Amino acid sequence: MALHSRICDLLKIEYPIALAGMGGASVPALAAAVSNAGGLGVLGAAACTPERLRDWIRETRELTDKPFGVDTLLPASVRRGPAPQAGGAPVDPVALLEEYRQFAREFMEREGLPPVERAAAMRAAGEAATQGGPALFSKEFFEAQMEVVIEEKVPVYAAGLGNPGPWMDRLHANGAIVMAVVGKVKHAQQVVESGVDVIVAQGHDGGGHNSPIGTISLIPQVVDAVGDRVPVLGAGGISDGRGVAAALMLGAEGAWVGTAFLATDEAGIEDFQKQAIAQGVDADTVVSRSITGKPARMIRNKWADAWVSAGKEPLPMPYQSMVSGPVLAAGIAAKRQDIMPGFAGQGIGLIHSVRPAAEVMRGLVAGAERALSIADNFR
Ligand SMILES: Cc1cc2nc3c(=O)[nH]c(=O)nc-3n(C[C@H](O)[C@H](O)[C@H](O)COP(=O)(O)O)c2cc1C
Repeated sequence: MALHSRICDLLKIEYPIALAGMGGASVPALAAAVSNAGGLGVLGAAACTPERLRDWIRETRELTDKPFGVDTLLPASVRRGPAPQAGGAPVDPVALLEEYRQFAREFMEREGLPPVERAAAMRAAGEAATQGGPALFSKEFFEAQMEVVIEEKVPVYAAGLGNPGPWMDRLHANGAIVMAVVGKVKHAQQVVESGVDVIVAQGHDGGGHNSPIGTISLIPQVVDAVGDRVPVLGAGGISDGRGVAAALMLGAEGAWVGTAFLATDEAGIEDFQKQAIAQGVDADTVVSRSITGKPARMIRNKWADAWVSAGKEPLPMPYQSMVSGPVLAAGIAAKRQDIMPGFAGQGIGLIHSVRPAAEVMRGLVAGAERALSIADNFR
């Protein structure tokens, strides 16, 4: 029996599988390849300047005539002033910035990483990100992205963090389907109250920004809380067809898959990072705030380890990106797998080679159909 759920009719896609919006990795070529293969390709546009986002949307439209989505972040807790710290005095991120930047410079020196060209470092650090426009990961930056999403009338919008409530009426007036990625039941209830059409329940196993709750526990609890009102996609550690089938059995109506699509020809990451995914095994990832300031699952690396050994608490978003930006840019320029292997989920050990995205998609569909028919034998 063909893999199908009501999410397919809602999103006008063939299979209930979405490419997770992965910042910098889910580029137009990858999103279009997934949409063309019958899933929903979602652009990982979190760090795109508004201008670049517009180019990406237009490029995707040239590569596919199928529905696709755009994922950006709308974090509620982007701070400008001092941040409260658990049980302690507020920390002023601005006051700590210079000390933390020095920590990053010393790390780079120790690792023999040459400083990156100033413009690239500035870009990576989020300064002058849009040549006079709002700084990367500032509230104004996220708002400017939303204007582009609305102007370009994208078919699907996904909020990777936060609540798209303030934009809901304008998105719906465009006929857009609005999704939100959540890691807790409470957050699912809040965004459904705001009018979201689809929930993505992403558990602790997943790559990138991360929930404290494991995928197998989170999905059915989110389904119980909001599944009678909106369809739920399961996410986090779903890296083969068995995971897709498991998400369906937990009450989800499809899967939102990230890491499995990183090891593809079309993914926007570096070849050495694709190799890190293909070589990685189950225990190779850690959750660290060292890159964006929010807990994110990544392949274990020396930069994440340096914060642990120094006993240093990373700064809240968006300040931590200003510290990690130059390290990130230098690590990538030097193709250092030990420093910047990238975000990835715990399903990494299920991925063994770099393949075309359409092949990954076919494998997910066939594997899910096989797993579902095997499950039938247990009755
Ligand atoms: C490299 C990478 C980048 C990510 N960037 C984003 C992002 O920009 N926005 C977002 O909503 N989620 C992001 N995520 C999380 C994914 O959307 C998704 O929830 C996650 O990849 C699912 O878990 P999996 O990787 O185990 O499949 C990212 C994940 C990875 C692996």
